[in-house]
Amino acid sequence: MIPPSKTSANGRYAQITGWGMSVPEKVLTNADLARVVDTTDEWIVSRTGIKERRVVAGERESTATLAIRAAREALLVAQVLPAQIDLIIVATATPEYAFPATASLVQDALGASAAGAFDLSAGCSGFIYALSVAASAVRSGSADHVLVVGSETLSRITDWTDRNTCVLFGDGAGAVVVSACNERCGVLATELGSDGSGGDLLIVPGGGSHRPACHESVSDGSHFIKMNGREVFRFATTVVPRATEAVARKAGWKADELDIIIPHQANVRIIESAAKRLSVPVDKFFVNLERYGNTSAASIPIALTEAIRAGRVKPGDRMVMVGFGAGLTWAAAALEWGVPIPTRPLPWWRRLFSPVLWLFAGLRSVSIRTERRVYNQIMGPVGKDDWRGHLRRHTDTLRRRVRAWLKR
Ligand SMILES: CC(C)(COP(=O)(O)OP(=O)(O)OC[C@H]1O[C@@H](n2cnc3c(N)ncnc32)[C@H](O)[C@@H]1OP(=O)(O)O)[C@@H](O)C(=O)NCCC(=O)NCCS
Repeated sequence: MIPPSKTSANGRYAQITGWGMSVPEKVLTNADLARVVDTTDEWIVSRTGIKERRVVAGERESTATLAIRAAREALLVAQVLPAQIDLIIVATATPEYAFPATASLVQDALGASAAGAFDLSAGCSGFIYALSVAASAVRSGSADHVLVVGSETLSRITDWTDRNTCVLFGDGAGAVVVSACNERCGVLATELGSDGSGGDLLIVPGGGSHRPACHESVSDGSHFIKMNGREVFRFATTVVPRATEAVARKAGWKADELDIIIPHQANVRIIESAAKRLSVPVDKFFVNLERYGNTSAASIPIALTEAIRAGRVKPGDRMVMVGFGAGLTWAAAALEWGVPIPTRPLPWWRRLFSPVLWLFAGLRSVSIRTERRVYNQIMGPVGKDDWRGHLRRHTDTLRRRVRAWLKR
């Protein structure tokens, strides 16, 4: 019998059809860090498993630029056009701005003219939270294609004098396209949790409404990550196996029936401990943290993309993705892999087509901005009762009607 959680009331399911990742070029090794803080390669590798991480260099790279690159790749793999996307969710703890949402910047850069867009903040669990929202939107029928991105530039909130934290984190982005399908596959169950009483264990205390940016908050380093490593470690080793087991159960599986587990890439000792508690061989967990460190909400989609590229994911595989992080939060998703994995690179004409698409998206954005500026200059301020005010009202109504007609 099919477990209830594996059925969908309306016959719609939500599967991952595209994936992509983007990491900065600049590599920061443990040896590089040992020149800045009192640490050693031996300490970092033995306590965390991390050997190097990527960090953004200069102002040209940011959470949005990494997200856009990963998203473009995911759309190319999914063979979904930007105009087909209904919703864009960017999970991040390091958004481009307090507002607008990084997701809106991604929407503009992709030319995703029909998409809603918002950011989601759930620490390192953010990607699974976003995947859960995306799957619900697709299964309910309110969306056909949702773009889910995890993107971070943690190097921008890292205190490079604090050896307790600076050795752990890295920058990067990963993205997936979640699409509707009629076959029973894709995201079958999710498990989300939070324990806000542990909020102070992993926190950036400054820069929010509680302690807005001011001279003192900057000079005392309140804008950097503060972490109680031991407590977070204890929390993680408890919730990772518990959430994995719970979500597998919801999907109708036992932990030892899983083919692959994609965990949040924070510390190899947390992963080894989870494998032990679940009585699952550790090689069922995909691990790439030695090259990227902890990239927070980006770590799971980056690991998924690399697992697929490494041939570790096959159609029909039973997969669990599991994360934990600031909040405190935890999240897991159980998926039955539904789409074929391409064995050959995309044909040249497809690769050539996509830069043209992004060029059009750029032109679209520039033309909308220019039109807005020119229009406002010609028409003058809103609400004036002179001839320009009248002209504005009539033109606005006409524009609204044309837009509504075009949308039909
Ligand atoms: C941070 C972490 C690697 C520390 O490992 P640990 O084995 O727990 O180490 P401890 O906290 O016991 O610290 C041991 C000592 O190493 C020191 N130390 C900390 N960072 C160090 C570094 N980079 N190099 C050398 N020594 C370091 C500590 O100061 C401490 O010294 P003390 O005993 O004199 O105070 C580990 O606790 C961890 O991974 N926690 C989870 C962090 C995490 O995943 N955060 C993100 C969640 S999304």
